[in-house]
Amino acid sequence: MRIAVFAAAILGLTAATPLVLAQSPTPAPAAPAAAPAAGDAAAGERVFAQCRACHQVGETARNTVGPQLNGLFGRQAGSVQGFNYSPAYKTPAVAEKVWSEENFATYIRDPRAVTPGTRMVFAGLRNEGQIANLVAYLKQFAADGKRTQ
Ligand code: HEC
Repeated sequence: MRIAVFAAAILGLTAATPLVLAQSPTPAPAAPAAAPAAGDAAAGERVFAQCRACHQVGETARNTVGPQLNGLFGRQAGSVQGFNYSPAYKTPAVAEKVWSEENFATYIRDPRAVTPGTRMVFAGLRNEGQIANLVAYLKQFAADGKRTQ
């Protein structure tokens, strides 16, 4: 990806445009490393610094301002025992949701647009790379908070 951008910069914008257009709809065949799941967990830990004021992960994770986020993917939304979710999180639209990498990515871009009335006061992450890295980081934590990778 970086090489393509670099090459595009050398070739100039006119040459770069068809290159980018040709690549973006079909990420899979040429560049397996560019798949959305291929985030960098270490970089994701740095992104998680933005969440840490309110969320914990790991074996000692507790609910604080927000619920602990262990075993997030595959977890029912709004289901952490002992956490007092907002009414927004008790509506069927949220309560029937199971967290996946996809719906998490949508949510974290703009939590208050996806879940109006949520108490999660966070503007959102717009950077796709940061989101992928954050997913890779969170994925490491099993439901009991142990690291699986
Ligand atoms: C200012 C505090 C705050 C920040 C910062 C914050 N959150 Fe939250 N988050 C909350 C609260 C509070 C809730 C519960 C929402 C509710 O009850 O409406 C929540 C809910 C969530 C949920 C749903 C959990 C569940 O059990 O369904 C996820 C996932 C989540 N946050 C991820 C993140 C991530 C990732 C970040 C960082 C990029 C982040 N949050 C930043 C406060 C925060």
